[in-house]
Amino acid sequence: MEQSDLSANTVIDHPRALSDKRTLIRDAGPSKFQVIADFDATLTRYRVNGRRGLTSHGLLQQGNTDYDAKRDALYEHYRPLEISPLIPIEEKSKLMEEWWSKTHDLLIEGGLTYDAIKKSVENSSIAFREGVIELFEFLEKKEIPVLIFSAGLADVIEEILRQNLRRTFKNVKIVSNRMVFDDDGRLVSFKGKLIHVLNKNEHALDMAAPLHDQLGGEICEEVEEYAYVKQRTNVLLLGDHLGDLRMSDGLSYETRISIGFLNDNIEKSLESYRKAFDLVYLNDAPMWGALELVSQLFSTEA
Ligand code: TMP
Repeated sequence: MEQSDLSANTVIDHPRALSDKRTLIRDAGPSKFQVIADFDATLTRYRVNGRRGLTSHGLLQQGNTDYDAKRDALYEHYRPLEISPLIPIEEKSKLMEEWWSKTHDLLIEGGLTYDAIKKSVENSSIAFREGVIELFEFLEKKEIPVLIFSAGLADVIEEILRQNLRRTFKNVKIVSNRMVFDDDGRLVSFKGKLIHVLNKNEHALDMAAPLHDQLGGEICEEVEEYAYVKQRTNVLLLGDHLGDLRMSDGLSYETRISIGFLNDNIEKSLESYRKAFDLVYLNDAPMWGALELVSQLFSTEA
């Protein structure tokens, strides 16, 4: 997408309010700032080669067709419930917890191995939006943390980052459902509190651990991590669902700029997206707009 196309695909309902937020964030400086991003269809593209790109759940092939089929059947049952506007939130939250628990159980029962994760990622059609690496690089230089917050699977997301970005970022952390493997590389359980689409909130922040540590070093003290992200009260939030706005609930943020990627159903959803997000990018836009925004905030700082 060219710059002129990007402008045509950008919707800002209140430019003045956005400009005020930029000033506040710039004045407070990079040490008060962090980025919180959803993963599927936010950092990754919604369509790849004209087809719906896969999610961290969707790409997983257990190497056990019966169990893959059982997970597919759960998807067919629960996915319409996830996107139904008619189910009250509390009821839906219970249903989502049910879906995630059943899926996690099937992954364990079906004997998922780390090897199967690697192969699934190798064979998958998943791609980052253009500009994601450059955004991460800029933020790394400025020592600004990026929290990837996902209801998907942390270990799969890590493997996707490893294979697609081909380098690690010490400022990038993943908060998602994390697996525990035995010595033979077989999944035995999941760590901590289950994260589904409707509970991306404060509690999950406890589980943050730096990606570079997860990739080989020691796991940082959770307490230290918690303090690290909690003190950064200015936020750039990136998401593709209205529910993603809750990712910063636990922070008591001072100033937040939110970017929403509206990938599908534009006519039906634009009205609610433009009200909820400070900036909306349409049509599977690249990440250049977010990069430009953070560059303008912090490149020229004294
Ligand atoms: P997120 O990555 O945007 O946080 O959301 C995770 C998505 O994963 C959610 O839209 C539903 C989907 N999902 C599957 O595709 N298969 C599954 O088994 C489960 C539990 C979720």
